[in-house]
Amino acid sequence: MGKSTIGIGVLGMGVVGGGVASVLDNRREQLSALVGCAVELKGVLVRDVAKPRAHQLPAGLITTDPRQVLDNPDVDIVVELMGGQDPALEYILGSVSQARHIVTANKEVMARHGPSILTAASEKGVQVLFEAAVAAGVPIIAPLLRDLVANEIIDIHGIINGTTNYILTRMANEGADFDATLADAQELGYAEADPTNDIEGIDAAYKLAVMATLAFRTKVMDIDVYHEGITKLTSRDFLHASELGYAIKLLAIADKVGDAVQARVHPALVPQDMMLAKVDGVLNAIEVQADLTGKLLFHGAGAGSMPTTSAVVADIVDIARNVAGNSVPPSNLALSDSVTIRPISELETRYYIRLTTTDRPGVLAQVGKVLGDLNISVASAIQKETDEVAQSAELVLMTHLSSESAMQTAISQLEALDVVAEVGNVIRVEEW
Ligand code: NAP
Ligand code: HSE
Repeated sequence: MGKSTIGIGVLGMGVVGGGVASVLDNRREQLSALVGCAVELKGVLVRDVAKPRAHQLPAGLITTDPRQVLDNPDVDIVVELMGGQDPALEYILGSVSQARHIVTANKEVMARHGPSILTAASEKGVQVLFEAAVAAGVPIIAPLLRDLVANEIIDIHGIINGTTNYILTRMANEGADFDATLADAQELGYAEADPTNDIEGIDAAYKLAVMATLAFRTKVMDIDVYHEGITKLTSRDFLHASELGYAIKLLAIADKVGDAVQARVHPALVPQDMMLAKVDGVLNAIEVQADLTGKLLFHGAGAGSMPTTSAVVADIVDIARNVAGNSVPPSNLALSDSVTIRPISELETRYYIRLTTTDRPGVLAQVGKVLGDLNISVASAIQKETDEVAQSAELVLMTHLSSESAMQTAISQLEALDVVAEVGNVIRVEEW
């Protein structure tokens, strides 16, 4: 005889947990019809029971004692929505060892420990689903795991952090202030508990590690992903980029050449007519190039309570149906250990360089010599505003394809020139 109720234990009742609790409650009948039996909240773990909650829970359900949820025999699926590594990892692994299924939105845990969690789950015959961990409500994990399995994935280009895309869009369109815009993103529930992870590209690096692991069927961990954040971008960069015909986006890029994967997150100049250049606000977009399908675009809200709730509840329904039908599907994820990571120093791309220099004859020649000696060819050079009092000028250079290691040497050598007051910014230019 099948189960009459699938019990859900939720760890965390913040932006996402609150949304999940409200949908489990308000769409109770719809979900029961989908699953074939009732789906009921059996326990909710928080840090502070007294905190006001967006969704009211029945008395006795909410607790600060993890054991009340994790050891509750009525809980079939543990839904981890606390974030961070500790204690989320311990609770996930503990629940798997007790043969509980897991749904999580935790990209940090999945990027650092995903392969070992999935192996433990497979050994225990339970499911671990994590659609919400990347791009919130935009389906990308399931397509990589299921719909694209007949393909070889060639590359991934994505905007996968809603907070930074929201900040960059407002800086570009309104000249908005960075700190004020970040505060708005936090207020809207887009940012991580520690927004450093968003603005330094760490959150996007976690998500890229998860996607690259699934796309290339190999273990790409968080430490394998090169990352730079958006804090060095200024209004001058947005102005110059726009004049040159580019948008500035925090891009996450992964590709595999032979056995070597390269995964990187950094700000990039993207030609204004490319699709990703037009993805604004909290929206995310992931372009996957695969050998059979060609290019695919996954696009939609990449953060926020309800879009994330949508993905979490879909994973709950997926597992609940299997629990109700007593049929857990075998894991189809075999990961190769033999990956080589191609370091960022081996990248070849074009670069935008913004310098503040002395405004006198011969400056361009000195800058050009540094670049020329390193085989970096300048495609265009524009001298922008000059400050007559300070006798300084702003120089904006665009290069042809150049090597990253040569560019890093060039930056040090330019900084050492008397005529260069500051290397304001160097941004990679991406066209694919
Ligand atoms: P949040 O608003 O900060 O909520 C975190 C919740 O977890 C809070 O209810 C907190 O309890 C609880 N919690 C944290 N540490 C705990 C601990 N040690 N013991 C017990 N309870 C603990 O976070 P969120 O935005 O909902 O994000 C949750 C997860 O979803 C994260 O992994 C995040 O990366 C991911 N995610 C978020 C979004 C988004 O747009 N927000 C989108 C996709 C994925 P109190 O309420 O009592 O403090
Ligand atoms: N802080 C994350 C973002 C939440 O801004 O994209 C969604 O994962």
